[in-house]
Amino acid sequence: MNRSPLDELRRRKALVEAGGGEDRIAGQHQRNKYTARERLDLLLDPGSFNEIGAFIQTRGQDFGMADRDVPADAVVTGHGKINGRPVYVFSQDFTTMGGSLGEMHAQKICRIMDLALQNGCPFVGINDSGGARIQEGIDALNGYGEIFRRNTAASGVIPQISVIAGPCAGGASYSPALTDLVLMVEGSARLFITGPAVIKSVTGEDVDAGELGGAAAHARKSGVAHLTYPDEDSLFADLRWLLTLLPANNREMPPRVEGRAPALEASRLASGMPRSHSKGYDMEQMILALIDEGTYLPIQSDFATNAIVGFGRLNGRVVGLVANQPRFLAGCLDIDSSDKIARHVRFCDAFNIPLITLVDTPGYLPGINQEHGGIIRHGAKVLYAYSEANVPKISVVLRKAYGGAYLAMSSRSLGADIALAWPTAEIAVMGPEGACNVVFRREINAAEDPEATRSEKIQQYRDKFANPYAAAARGYIDAVIDPTRTREELDSALEALASKRRDTGLRTEKPHGNIPL
Ligand code: HXC
Repeated sequence: MNRSPLDELRRRKALVEAGGGEDRIAGQHQRNKYTARERLDLLLDPGSFNEIGAFIQTRGQDFGMADRDVPADAVVTGHGKINGRPVYVFSQDFTTMGGSLGEMHAQKICRIMDLALQNGCPFVGINDSGGARIQEGIDALNGYGEIFRRNTAASGVIPQISVIAGPCAGGASYSPALTDLVLMVEGSARLFITGPAVIKSVTGEDVDAGELGGAAAHARKSGVAHLTYPDEDSLFADLRWLLTLLPANNREMPPRVEGRAPALEASRLASGMPRSHSKGYDMEQMILALIDEGTYLPIQSDFATNAIVGFGRLNGRVVGLVANQPRFLAGCLDIDSSDKIARHVRFCDAFNIPLITLVDTPGYLPGINQEHGGIIRHGAKVLYAYSEANVPKISVVLRKAYGGAYLAMSSRSLGADIALAWPTAEIAVMGPEGACNVVFRREINAAEDPEATRSEKIQQYRDKFANPYAAAARGYIDAVIDPTRTREELDSALEALASKRRDTGLRTEKPHGNIPL
């Protein structure tokens, strides 16, 4: 048949765009999943997608691969725009050989990653794949290695976002793990190293295939998922907004917009603090009274709930938020919350996002599980991350800031640029009860009325140390502020620190430090 060159191009394009064909696309929709190309339509500005490598073919020869047509080698790659800003993307096509990753499939992803890195643009990967293409053996395996190396090279240079919208099994799960944010769809996403059959054969354990590697498990237990969504529509809509909070690369500032009043009134900052020292309260309410309405994005909100990390805007500027959450474990730092905080601090530091730290913590969580689980190793990550970060760092002690946890939560000692405290702040080496039991033990035991003496000593300690003024007297706190004016104080501090030189401070010439991992 004699087709014009343009008709031939159209014919070939239509074949590629048909992916695995009507039946498999219908199967994809039946599972509440969009196709690879439908996902790109949801993610990108209309008409902005430019495909790269549409005609790439597998070079596999074994197990019937030689005669097989694998449209686009089961992955759609290219660049497009999100709110007018360029991004590079791949979207795996589960309808074609289960989105499995062969040699050329991996090469396509690597090409996109190289372009994203060279041009300083965010990189978004949409994962829906049966993993390494079994028919392509070691070439598929090598493909993953090439991707991991590029994920690592791009880390801290361009934002890398992984969407998990179907299976992402075996070694495939390590590419998302190397990226900045992992977004999962409830119900369809499955992220795991070894599947139920392998677990059963090695350990004898019966694992519910429906539960293994799902969004809920990774959001609550493993901490692998940063954000989860009930469906793909809400995920892609949120991802488009999320990228407005990030710079395109580490040489740019996050885009600033017009400021907005907070969702909650400033009076909430004072009225939200309970009179009793030992009563919990919701730190999220404080955050909502500080940042611009509609800009709060908590990250890992169901994991290590005793700490809060996230993003927001304050008077239009993007800020990284870190806070203790006194509603859970009294806001203690433990193993998981230390990991959560340290990683967020490094994310913000990599991408020029000033850090605001809200402190109310009685200390590191005591207990043998924590000690033997490595609280020393994990807690040290927070110290390292804050010490190393040289974006503007502002801290506010709302109430408790005791011991190592005081130091860890962006103290002046670790290099906070501005350290503020509320009049309700208690800053000391340890809490009054613990301190008096150690220092005055003999005196209390020998007293006629030990309980009365204990209470008296605790009150004396509280009067002397459990306030912000001892710390302020030595310059560890720069200012004790009216809680209802915290937003204004933070805004002024952000303004004053906006031109902070990032090439000064503790950094010296070295390949990299040795963060306790
Ligand atoms: C080749 C694959 C494939 C793979 C799926 N397919 N996975 N082809 N290599 N890894 C093909 C199937 O043969 C099938 O083709 C089509 O994709 C759809 O798969 P189904 O099994 O029919 O779909 P479903 O029932 O939804 O199950 C999806 C699945 C399952 C859970 C992903 O396919 C599966 O378990 N696949 C293998 C997962 C795996 O173990 N991967 C290797 C991990 S090891 P037809 O033509 O029949 O429709 C790994 C090493 C990397 O990735 C290490 C890097 C460090």
